[in-house]
Amino acid sequence: MQPARGLPSPTLYLGIAELFQSPPIGEKLIIRGWIRTRRTTRQVSFVELYDGSTLRSLQVVMAHEQIPVERIESELHTGSSLEVWGTLQATPNRPQPFELVAEGYQLYGQADPEVYPLQKKAHSLEFLREIAHLRPRTRTFQAVFRIRSGVSFAIHQYFQEQGFVYVHTPILTPSDCEGAGQLFRVTTLSPQETDFTKDFFGRTAYLTVSGQLEGEQLAMGLGKIYTFGPTFRAEPSHTPRHLAEFWMIEPEMAFYDLTMTMDLAEDFLRSIIRHTQAHFSEELQFLAERYEPQLLTQIENVLKESFLRLSYTEAIELLEKSGRRFEYPVYWGADLQAEHERYLVEEYARRPIIVYNYPKAIKAFYMRQNEDGKTVASFDVLFPRIGEVIGGSQREERYEVLLNRMEERRMDLFAYKGYLDTRRFGTVPHSGFGLGLERLLLFLTGMSNVRDVIPFFRAAGQMG
Ligand code: 4AD
Ligand code: MG
Repeated sequence: MQPARGLPSPTLYLGIAELFQSPPIGEKLIIRGWIRTRRTTRQVSFVELYDGSTLRSLQVVMAHEQIPVERIESELHTGSSLEVWGTLQATPNRPQPFELVAEGYQLYGQADPEVYPLQKKAHSLEFLREIAHLRPRTRTFQAVFRIRSGVSFAIHQYFQEQGFVYVHTPILTPSDCEGAGQLFRVTTLSPQETDFTKDFFGRTAYLTVSGQLEGEQLAMGLGKIYTFGPTFRAEPSHTPRHLAEFWMIEPEMAFYDLTMTMDLAEDFLRSIIRHTQAHFSEELQFLAERYEPQLLTQIENVLKESFLRLSYTEAIELLEKSGRRFEYPVYWGADLQAEHERYLVEEYARRPIIVYNYPKAIKAFYMRQNEDGKTVASFDVLFPRIGEVIGGSQREERYEVLLNRMEERRMDLFAYKGYLDTRRFGTVPHSGFGLGLERLLLFLTGMSNVRDVIPFFRAAGQMG
């Protein structure tokens, strides 16, 4: 702790969060941060300072007798950064519990009000997307990114406490896990070259759409594993729910069947939601006031009752009986569209639902075929306002059945050799699921666009 210019030693360097935890009233302090706003009256200026340690800001009072008003007016603008020293004084009759009575300050960096874009108290989220690099300076994004950090921590804690092993699966892969063809190709060939045997890996390579296939291989040695990493999908959809780069959490468990996996998914989501509710009340309150008045009730409601479980066939029957006219036709075999999911979750169940046993034709090759020959042991968890947050399944562990399925779909078996080997050597029933982190964050923050819950978004046609 080096003493600042002209200040008695020792002087405390503190974060603003620490001030609110136990205010050192009467002490000499040094605070560093950025200016949220400044208001200048005849004799004093009030500077609202934030430092990222909390959503709250510190009010700094600068008497013009002590610090010349000309200097304040030319240097201290919204966004400017500084170090300020003075004494913390209790202010029992004001909205804020205390303020810093400044003796002096040193400027770190100017933010010219003529060009610095963040001048208003609240900018629209659309406007902020155009300047993603400045979003962390707003309280909205400070709240969202703090929640994102806390949720990530809680996810690790949940799995670690239950004996899951955190594994790192590769980002560069030779295969398409979901078989949906939404791959980004990675190459060092020039655009004219087409012979991929001459490419960097001697074969085609892609950015992974999911760590699941490697996760399954690891679970065959480690029992229960989870991944937590970025995944990439060249999905041309321009929706508020799709990113080209998003973060997925994928647990995979040996000896789990579909029911055990749905139970785990539900318990896991509840636990993360409870953690967020318990540790981020200030952030949630702020986001509720700004964006989603029902946020706290929605969170509370999800925790109240268990999720409703419906087979796909039951879901189709309910949609047919609803008397609704949907844009996309409802029939057995059709994939559920957002409008169908919304009806089931928001109007029929009024709580999260788990739809299971989807038709085999609309699901990925690795899902276990049910006895009926028509469906696979799969499930989706659907949330109010968001739709699908989790997709999962029991895996096809029978070698012949899996091989047939892959051949039917004309898959390149060479690219899946290691995967097929798990079924040749000591295969066991196993299951897993994938949670889209940004989808869950939409629910937890009240934001309505996935571009607003990841620091730098990559989506079709956009790199924020
Ligand atoms: O349902 P998906 O495609 O399932 C899988 O990838 C499996 N391999 C998971 C597994 O069983 N291990 O994706 C899982 C979740 C979705 O439910 C959704 O929440 C999210 O990932 N997701 C996306 N989130 C943002 N942008 C996109 N383009 C997404 N695609 C999927
Ligand atoms: Mg899915």
